[in-house]
Amino acid sequence: MRSTPPPGKRSALTAAAAVVATWMVALPAAAQPAAERPAPRPERSAAERAAVALRLRQTYRADPATWPAPHVDPGVEWREIGLLPRVRHPEGNPFTAAKAELGRTLFHDPRLSAQGTVACVSCHDPRLGWADGRPTSAPAVGSPPRNAPTIRNAAFQPALLWDGRAASLEEHAEIALTGPREMAADRGDVERFLSASAGYRALFSAAYPGRPITFAGAVAAVACFERTVVGGRSRFDAFLEGDAAALSAAELLGLDLFRGAARCMNCHHGPTFSDGRFHDLGLSFHGRSNEDLGRFDVTADPADKGRFRTPSLRDVTQTGPLMHNGRFTLAGVLRMYDAGMVTLKRQPFERAAPDFPVKSPHLRPLGLNRQDLADLEAFLHSLEEPPAAVGRPPLPALK
Ligand code: HEC
Ligand code: HEC
Repeated sequence: MRSTPPPGKRSALTAAAAVVATWMVALPAAAQPAAERPAPRPERSAAERAAVALRLRQTYRADPATWPAPHVDPGVEWREIGLLPRVRHPEGNPFTAAKAELGRTLFHDPRLSAQGTVACVSCHDPRLGWADGRPTSAPAVGSPPRNAPTIRNAAFQPALLWDGRAASLEEHAEIALTGPREMAADRGDVERFLSASAGYRALFSAAYPGRPITFAGAVAAVACFERTVVGGRSRFDAFLEGDAAALSAAELLGLDLFRGAARCMNCHHGPTFSDGRFHDLGLSFHGRSNEDLGRFDVTADPADKGRFRTPSLRDVTQTGPLMHNGRFTLAGVLRMYDAGMVTLKRQPFERAAPDFPVKSPHLRPLGLNRQDLADLEAFLHSLEEPPAAVGRPPLPALK
């Protein structure tokens, strides 16, 4: 569309807005595309693509220390994308197989919830990339409804939730269990329910020999289980482990774009493809009914308005719809990045607002062509884990 400007009086902005309308699940009236988009790079012939891919396969087969420098802005403390490290279980909650098994059972048990019908797995389903496939789900206390992220690799995130309000999986599991709009569980009820079940008494005594059944023990077991839900078996991982054929030509071209011209490594870097930091992509809907100010709700620092934690991109192809508000498809997200993301328009009453959210300076129009966008998408597919093998555990009988 960009290469064929519409005839007549239709302004560039209207044309761009029409493009935006085709990317979004729902077009926010508040958003307009960033101005000044460069012309897309010329497309390559099939022969050129094959030749470049051949060269890239050699480049990226070599030690990552020899890879070309990524396109990151000055001051960005980036880490190379790569294989996941081993999970570190905290000293206060060391791994045991019995504790993780207890946690897995609790994760699947809706009887812990006040409603009796909601379990962690209701919103974090292994068949849906450990997410729930819905745009948004019941929110945590004090937050607007948000998209349920995957729990896979959450163990590696320094701060949890889109706004980073939980510092550990233990802290978060407690929020999710007791949150009035999540599972609304009462600590005492949970302890009584678990103590009444011979099955749970057996699971607890295996996990915590000689110790009484407590709510805190249940929370720790859930977190321990979550730390076992990690990736590392994607095609991208296989390629890095030496299987040179694991990535297709398109995926290699996408990998090179991801680190290079598409500038994704400014924020999505390291083994999880997340810097663990908070950025404003222009999606806060500031001043509108569906406003979500993200990190600001936690820190009350005006500079944090509209900032959200960079999500991991491992499994992103399985956890849509995307972004904190669950409004976007993957292809739509990529076209928005190409346009430099959206720039929120100030409403009349916000004209002079000094703390109006400021979009991240790392975002700018990229000038990618259709091949580039398809290659980037192909690369993100190579980060997909094979289907989860976690079966539903049998739930212990009540007596
Ligand atoms: C009703 C749906 C729902 C239920 C039930 C639920 N969650 Fe979530 N979960 C969400 C949503 C929505 C978010 C994101 C909330 C936010 O960021 O404000 C989330 C976020 C998370 C995260 C953070 C992931 C990350 O990358 O930051 C973890 C971990 C998690 N949930 C685990 C659990 C556990 C464990 C349980 C059960 C004790 C549970 N959830 C129950 C919907 C749910
Ligand atoms: C300025 C930092 C930054 C840059 C640069 C960046 N991202 Fe993001 N990305 C984020 C943040 C923050 C979010 C979550 C934003 C939100 O929900 O409001 C996100 C979300 C995403 C999502 C949706 C993930 C999900 O689970 O919903 C995808 C896909 C994605 N980015 C891919 C990319 C690609 C590909 C590039 C390069 C073209 C890129 N990002 C560049 C910070 C960045």
